[in-house]
Parts: sequence; structure tokens; C-alpha cells
Amino acid sequence: MYNKDYKGDVCSHKHSFFLDNVFRRVIQNPKKIVGEYIKDGDTVIDLGCGPGYFSIDMAKMVGETGRVISVDLQPEMLEKVEKKAEKQNLFRRITLHSCPQERIGLPLDVAADFVLVFYMLHETPHPDIFLQEVKTFLKKDGKCLIVEPLFHVSKKQFQKLTQDVKNIGFTILGRPSKKGGRSLLVSLGG
Ligand SMILES: C[S@@+](CC[C@H](N)C(=O)[O-])C[C@H]1O[C@@H](n2cnc3c(N)ncnc32)[C@H](O)[C@@H]1O
Repeated sequence: MYNKDYKGDVCSHKHSFFLDNVFRRVIQNPKKIVGEYIKDGDTVIDLGCGPGYFSIDMAKMVGETGRVISVDLQPEMLEKVEKKAEKQNLFRRITLHSCPQERIGLPLDVAADFVLVFYMLHETPHPDIFLQEVKTFLKKDGKCLIVEPLFHVSKKQFQKLTQDVKNIGFTILGRPSKKGGRSLLVSLGG
């Protein structure tokens, strides 16, 4: 299940079927999970995009003038996103960004309206350092949705994460339910 090429429990690209299939579409509909945060023309970042389950739908939501930056450390995951984007004629709206495990490293001019961090934060070696970096490219009026899986992240671990998020300087806008796990909606606003 895990990719031994990386530190910690990084979900392997070999199991990406579990992340994009018809069953998931029934229980975790992307429109219901992120639709309310995304509008036409937005710049959206899908951090730890995996095989692109959310990236592809979000590319539809941002329209022709928007863009989605799909970020992952496994090149094999990004290849899957690329294939799907080409098949659905969405490749002009999607930029693939391959990153090392310790750093996101997006270009300095990126300013995001919405950042999705779905089922990936617990896979990063230092979630607090990772979130510090998110702060540098989230717009002041932008939003970031963090969702962690119930089966990998305990209530106690999520409480610690929530405290880290506050310490880093994010404002917690809510803990939206029905997003598929333990969730936080945050911004940089006061
Ligand atoms: C469990 S998968 C979730 C994928 C996607 N968010 C979804 O919900 O379908 C976690 C993904 O995060 C990626 N990932 C883990 N740590 C990462 C890091 N430090 N930087 C970038 N991507 C990372 C993994 O390669 C994997 O594709």
C-alpha cells in the first residue's frame, strides 16, 4: 500500500485505483466537497493530487479562464492526471507540478484562491512546515480545505493539527461536515 521510496506512509501510485473509481464518486462527490469554494476563473491548487480525482473535476469548475495546479511527489501520479486531462480536453487548465517530499516549491508568482489538501497532510514528514509554505501562496481572501481520513488520523492527532494550524497563523473558518473525514476550512483573514 505504501511507497517505500519515500519517508513515512506515502500512498503508492500502484494503488491509485482506490483513489479514483465509481464507488468513491458515490460517497465522495467532488462537487459536493469543493464545489462551494470554487468559481469561474479561480486559481486552485490540489496538493498531493494523487491520480487527479479532484483535479479533473476542479478543472471543470474553474472554467476556461481558471487553472488548477496539480502537485504531487510521485511522477507516476502526475502522469495519470496528465492522461485524464488530455482525454477530457482539460490539459490547458491543468499545470502539473512535481515536488520533492520536503518542499512544495511552487513558482513565486502563484496566488491561489483555493487550496485543497485532501488525505495527504498526514503523509508529509512535517505538516507544520508544509502548512507554513501554503501560507506563502494562498491569497489573503483565499480558502484552504484540509481533510484527513478517519482511519489514519485519530481525533487526538487532528486536535494537534488544528492547534498547529492556528499557531501558524491561519484562521479557522469552520469544520465542515460531510467532506469525507476530519476537516478544517481555513484562511489567512483575521
Ligand atoms: C492518499 S493520496 C490522496 C490523493 C488525492 N488527494 C485524493 O484524495 O485522491 C496522498 C497523495 O499525496 C501525495 N503526497 C504525500 N506526501 C506528499 C508531499 N510531501 N508532497 C507532495 N505530495 C505528497 C502522495 O504521493 C499521494 O499521491
